[in-house]
Amino acid sequence: MIRVSKIAHASYETPDLDQQTEYYTDILGLSVAAKEKDAVYLASTIDHHSIVLRKGAQPQCVRVGFQIAPEADLGEFEKQVAGHGVKTERKKDPEPSIDDMLVFADPKGTVIEVFKRHDFSHRKFTNKGVVPHKLGHVAFHVTDVKGVTKFYCDVLGFRESDWMGDFFSFLRCGPDHHTINLMETGSNRHFHTAFELRDWGHMQTACDYLSTNGYKLLWGPGRHGIGHNLFAYHRGPNGLITELFAELDRMNDELGYFEPRPWHRDSPQRPKVWAKDPSASNLWGVLPGDEMMK
Ligand SMILES: [Fe+2]
Repeated sequence: MIRVSKIAHASYETPDLDQQTEYYTDILGLSVAAKEKDAVYLASTIDHHSIVLRKGAQPQCVRVGFQIAPEADLGEFEKQVAGHGVKTERKKDPEPSIDDMLVFADPKGTVIEVFKRHDFSHRKFTNKGVVPHKLGHVAFHVTDVKGVTKFYCDVLGFRESDWMGDFFSFLRCGPDHHTINLMETGSNRHFHTAFELRDWGHMQTACDYLSTNGYKLLWGPGRHGIGHNLFAYHRGPNGLITELFAELDRMNDELGYFEPRPWHRDSPQRPKVWAKDPSASNLWGVLPGDEMMK
């Protein structure tokens, strides 16, 4: 099968486009790559854009974009998706830097955009704001975790990295432990969007920068059990949650285990089902408050 190999971008609707754009540029340190009448494209580094904002009544994540390998055939990928009974659409030049895009909906209603990237932005990292390495993952609340997980694995070629009990799946489409994670909670909606930082020092600088700009942490800093990443969560001005993370587990798919780290409890650390236990959430012991689930 053809597998998607990278998360490329996430697209949001948001009521106040200017305010949310300012957050992404001045606080997170992304750059405005392009602007249309009701849309803003925000870049981190090599991709033309990692975040797309469009004006909408409710803050919500409406689309997620994935790349397939340069040698993969998008037409063959389309056949693979349609073979699962999924209605597909092909769009020519739908967004800046993307000339050919396959579009379809996942079972929870998020639009999936799959394409090949032919050229790169050659953008330098900025020096204002948090300045993450990249968009890392998007997490969703879902009503049917088994169904949506199966869709991502069967249709898009994701692999299961870990589960928490039978209600929270962590799925990868490359070496990073998770690119999409799905938590069954009784509704279909955005949970958080995560950006990768360098290391613990970068986390500290970022948390201080958030604080001096009036952004309080919702949870963290801590170290997750599942994925073993350092984490800190806050809410952007539109209310959606952003996670900053570092040191996420990386999989060696040939060998079937995650690269060894001193904070692992298993040796080797392999994909597994974790008990619904505080250590799965935060190895350092502090559990999330109710605010995280709103
Ligand atoms: Fe996360």
